[in-house]
Amino acid sequence: MSKIIIAIDGPAGSGKSTIAKMVAERLNFTYLDTGAMYRAITYLALQAGIVDDEKEVNKLVEGLDVTLNFENGLTHVFVDGIEVTEHIRTPEVNSKVSEIAAMPFVRKELVRMQQSMGKVGNVVAEGRDTTTVVFPNADLKIYLDATVDVRAERRYKEYLEKGVPVNLDEVTENIRKRDRIDSGREASPLLVAENAIEVDTSNLTVDEEFEILIENIKKKINFN
Ligand code: DC
Repeated sequence: MSKIIIAIDGPAGSGKSTIAKMVAERLNFTYLDTGAMYRAITYLALQAGIVDDEKEVNKLVEGLDVTLNFENGLTHVFVDGIEVTEHIRTPEVNSKVSEIAAMPFVRKELVRMQQSMGKVGNVVAEGRDTTTVVFPNADLKIYLDATVDVRAERRYKEYLEKGVPVNLDEVTENIRKRDRIDSGREASPLLVAENAIEVDTSNLTVDEEFEILIENIKKKINFN
């Protein structure tokens, strides 16, 4: 088994991250959390006060080095060697990240970095466009989906667990807004890739979802 790439795609809150991490740990693969990279750029742009200025964001991204280090179930994110992990999952970043991820130059630069990370192989790449643009030749492509209400409820619970005060209606509205931006954008809109296995996770537990994915992976890849 060499240089295998599994790509997991789907909308916000479809459960991609949880399951991608579980699959990566099970197979002993590297977990490539592409969303964390868009989040890191969004955080930097917010810090610099330029989040609504695409030209300035382009300048910021040019020559920047974003790296990921997946250890003990957590993705550590570094920009030019400085760790930003704890700043990238805030409501502020959530509310702006779709806009940053719609910027073509940002995508071009991050996709280039992601493809280079994929070259080492044995990677579970997670994020929208990982099955269509980043790794169109992935050995296995999976598209996870769930209803808006189920996805909003999941995000809402994640915030509560972290002690972040939010309200369910706002989270639902945020998910709808992100869906609209992510599906309607010109640069790499959210799409179901050809040959992707589609799984609706609305009524599945994480363990059930994991089993379905592992069954599908076994059909394609030999592992112990
Ligand atoms: O998966 P996530 O919630 O961390 O993703 C954050 C945002 O970045 C979300 O709006 C989708 C976008 N994204 C993207 O456009 N392309 C990717 N490969 C990964 C994430």
